[in-house]
Amino acid sequence: MNTQLSTLALIGPPGAGKTTIGRRLAGLLEIDFIDTDEAVVAAAGQPIAEIFVDQGEDAFRVLERRAVADALARARSTPMVLALGGGAPLDPITAAELESATVVFLDVSDAVAIRRVGLDSPRPLLAASPRRAWRELMAKRRPVYEGLADAIVQVDDLTPDDAAGRIAALLTEGER
Ligand code: S3P
Repeated sequence: MNTQLSTLALIGPPGAGKTTIGRRLAGLLEIDFIDTDEAVVAAAGQPIAEIFVDQGEDAFRVLERRAVADALARARSTPMVLALGGGAPLDPITAAELESATVVFLDVSDAVAIRRVGLDSPRPLLAASPRRAWRELMAKRRPVYEGLADAIVQVDDLTPDDAAGRIAALLTEGER
């Protein structure tokens, strides 16, 4: 399957499955995939948790903004799926730049997300009281995610392949 679409950006909170679903979706659409967290880690030469400790969150956000801008610039010439770090769309410059992309908000319940992040790599913002921190973060961010979204997919009951298939179907419907 291929598509006319140039950039597809997945946004949502930690534990929504942006990276896993994004990778599957890119495979399905036969286009490239970039995870902005991975781009930040590669640029900084250290894991995200260490960037937070050594350089602070503000420095992380600067690196993140740059990683998203670079990815969006690349996506101008090559169709691409981007998975953004959960906090990336909160940056006003990033939010404005996302206008050029088709944005899909992966919505997820706290129960499912917290179970997933517990099994995954450490997230500095969720290190203390993960459940409460996730809920607070999602309450603040939901309006931003919803405001930027061209489509919202609730992923609680979907496998990554099902979620990727659902998004691909939405895109091909939109093209008709
Ligand atoms: C963050 C989410 C993380 C990562 C960093 C900050 C956030 O990415 O960018 O730990 O602010 O929500 P995921 O959304 O992939 O967990």
